[in-house]
Parts: sequence; structure tokens; C-alpha cells
Amino acid sequence: MDKLVIVGGNKLCGEVRISGAKNASLPIMAAALLANGKCVIHNVPELDDVWVMLALLEELGVKAAFRGGVLRLDTTHAEPLTPDRELLGRIRASNLLLGSLVGRFGEAEVAASGGCSIGARPLDLHFAALQRMGVRFLPTPEGHLAFCRELRGADITLAFPSVGATENVLMAAALAEGRTVLHNAAAEPEIADLAGFINAMGGRISGAGTDTIIIDGVKKLGGAEYTVMPDRIETGTFLLAGAMCGGSVVLRGARPEHNGALLAVLRQAGAGLACGADFIAVRGGGRLQSLDVATAPYPGFPTDMQPQLAAMLCLADGCSHVCETVFENRFRYIDELKKMGASIQVSGNCAIIKGTSGLSGAEVTACDLRAGAALVLAGLAASGRTIVERADLIDRGYEDLTAKLGSLGADIRRIAAGAGRERIS
Ligand code: UD1
Repeated sequence: MDKLVIVGGNKLCGEVRISGAKNASLPIMAAALLANGKCVIHNVPELDDVWVMLALLEELGVKAAFRGGVLRLDTTHAEPLTPDRELLGRIRASNLLLGSLVGRFGEAEVAASGGCSIGARPLDLHFAALQRMGVRFLPTPEGHLAFCRELRGADITLAFPSVGATENVLMAAALAEGRTVLHNAAAEPEIADLAGFINAMGGRISGAGTDTIIIDGVKKLGGAEYTVMPDRIETGTFLLAGAMCGGSVVLRGARPEHNGALLAVLRQAGAGLACGADFIAVRGGGRLQSLDVATAPYPGFPTDMQPQLAAMLCLADGCSHVCETVFENRFRYIDELKKMGASIQVSGNCAIIKGTSGLSGAEVTACDLRAGAALVLAGLAASGRTIVERADLIDRGYEDLTAKLGSLGADIRRIAAGAGRERIS
């Protein structure tokens, strides 16, 4: 497996452009299946998860071309087939094909989906919501067969504002008979982006981005051209890098209104921030202050920034508490940070972090995507050399991470595991 080699201690200075959002691109790609026609989607990041979703769409008969961040999809000849199970198992977002296939064809086969191992990640909320719209689920040896004679709008209340369940309901309801009102919906900006795309295809969705979404079903959807929103988790990761390493970093294309909780936390810690309509700048330097932060559904502090925040707080002045309320198993990176000299204790769903004045480079292993990002941040701020194993997990969610950090002055290289000997690229 590839690894990253980081020599820490460099200040980061300059500008980077934030890529399109992974977590908006994946549902938008799934939603393209709802249309019978051609879609052109701009600002799609070239990430491993995106390539897997593309391969899944191709297995369903979609014609695709992806170059320079522009994704062209022709869904005219799509069919409700069962894609390769190994592919389905590679990304959690493969479960989003459920809403779009049921919406367009009235049937879908649901197999176990994959993704980061950060908790159980069941689909009960997705199933319960779609059942209210007339979808039935039959267990099969590999998963479930979902089918319906008629997909009808319904009044649905999610027991928890699940991002994926909200997205599946939006997609299925877009082509259902009548009106669906979804209460306690997830309000993440990526949901609003998905609704924007479905509306561009001719859908009638209002309220996306709030906790109540109204979807009036239409008879059919057509092709559309759309631009994906910038990635707020990539934005957050670079903001923390700037705050931890000192120097001055400008993130072009970043949207301050999507990062409210993180910006508030960074200000509280003492980082210097400046925001405009489409940029965020961070100035680091002095020692940051400790914080007490709990993750929560949007607009709360994002669980996808929790490991990176913990890495930053390892270097803060004082004792911090970071509590994880969204996923049950998202502290597996802590033992790796401890190898770098971090002082962290886990008590239930909270990490108690005693700030230290310096971390030291070490050999560490990423256990999932954001955990990997946290180790990279720690390595950039540490003294000496850090090796982060399993760089492939980081590739799932960060476009050109090494090149972007390198352009800011970081000493970071990727070492590709070659046949028999390692190649430096
Ligand atoms: C999405 C994001 C992921 C992010 C998460 C929370 C994508 C591709 N992934 O994941 O990066 O960390 O939102 O912001 O957009 N749950 C149930 N039953 C269900 C569904 C969810 O119990 O049927 C639980 C999950 O186990 C988890 C919590 O709800 O504990 C949040 O999950 P959810 O919001 O659905 O996250 P994802 O859509 O999987």
C-alpha cells in the first residue's frame, strides 16, 4: 500500500483551490439515474469513491465520460441490474442507488455497502422511510430486494436526521405520485445541493437544507447541467492545517456559510480568520487554546472533522474534550496519535486531550479516511519525520492532497508501493 512521508515543522503559506464536494458528488451521480437523458456535472473531484460510483453507474448501463472535473452521464439506457457486489461493498454511498433505482424503475437490489469502518452504519431508517412510500423489502442471501407497484408520496418523520436516508427519500419521492413531506430531515448543505440538481432535472423540491423538505413528485425527469458545491470537509482540513502550522493560507472557492461551526470553534481557539463570499483565509502562529466540542448533525460540528480537530487540540494550551455523538466508533486513530506523543484518554464517547507543546514524528497507520487526514495534520505540525501508512484510505476523500499541501510549503511525499521495491512519486 502507498504511504505518505512528511517532514514536519514547515509553515504553510499561499493559496489552494478547494475541490468539489465528495459527499455532494456521490448522491448527485446516483440521482442522475432518475433522469432519462444526458447530464453534465461540473466540479466533480477525482477521488477513489467517485471512480467507484462511476463504475457502479456503468454496470447499470449508464454511458459515462469523466475528464478535468467534468462528468458526462447518459442514463437513457440504464437498467435496474445488480452491480458487482465487490464494487457495491467498497463505498457506503452505493446505498444511494436504492432511492434512484426505486424512483425510476420501482425496484432495486440492496447489497451490503461499505465505506469507512466508524460504526455499524445500518440502513433501517432508509428502509422505514421508503416503506412509508409503498416500497417493500424482501431479504435475499446477499441483502434485500426492494420493489413497489406504485411509489406514492407520504408524510415521513426520520427518527434521526440521517444524511443518506434523507437523500434516498429525496430521490425516490422526486418521481413518486403526489407530495412527500420529510420531517427531521438532515439539513447538510450537500442535501440542498442534491435537491438543486434534481430541480435542475425538472424536480419540485423545496426546503432542502432545513429540517422539513417538501417533494412534489413529477412524471419524469430529464438531463441537466449542474455544478457541485465546494467540499466543506476539505476546506476544514486545510483550515486546521493552516492554524496548526503557522503561516497564512487562503482557501479559494471555500464557502464560509457551510463551515459556521468549524469557524466558530477555530475563532474560540484563537486562530486568525478572514472570510469573503468565496474564500476563507487562516493565519496561524501563536499557541491555540483548548476547547470543548461535541459533534452533531448540521449545523452542528461535523463528525467528519472530529479526528482532524482532535489532532489540532493535541497541540493546544490546556485540556480539551471532544465528544462524538454521530458515530459510535470514531476514535480508532487515537492510539496512532499517541505514538506521536499525544496525551489522550477516551472515556465513553469523549476524548480528553491534554495539550502538549510538541508532537514527534512516528510511523502511524490511517484506519479510515478522516483518521488519515488527522494523522497528516499531526505529521505536518510534528518535529521530524512521520510516515502515514494506508494513504489509499485518504485518497477516498481528498483530491491531490499531497500536491496541494506541497504547494503551500509542506514537505510531504507519496511513496507508491511497487512490485518488490518502493517508488517515490
Ligand atoms: C454521510 C456522509 C459521511 C458523514 C455522515 C454524517 C456521505 C457519502 N457520507 O454518511 O461522510 O460522516 O453523513 O454527517 O455523504 N444511522 C442509522 N440507521 C440508518 C442510517 C443511519 O442508525 O438507517 C446512523 C448511522 O449509523 C450513524 C448516524 O445515523 O451513526 C449518521 O449516519 P448518516 O447521517 O446516515 O450518515 P451517512 O449518510 O452514512
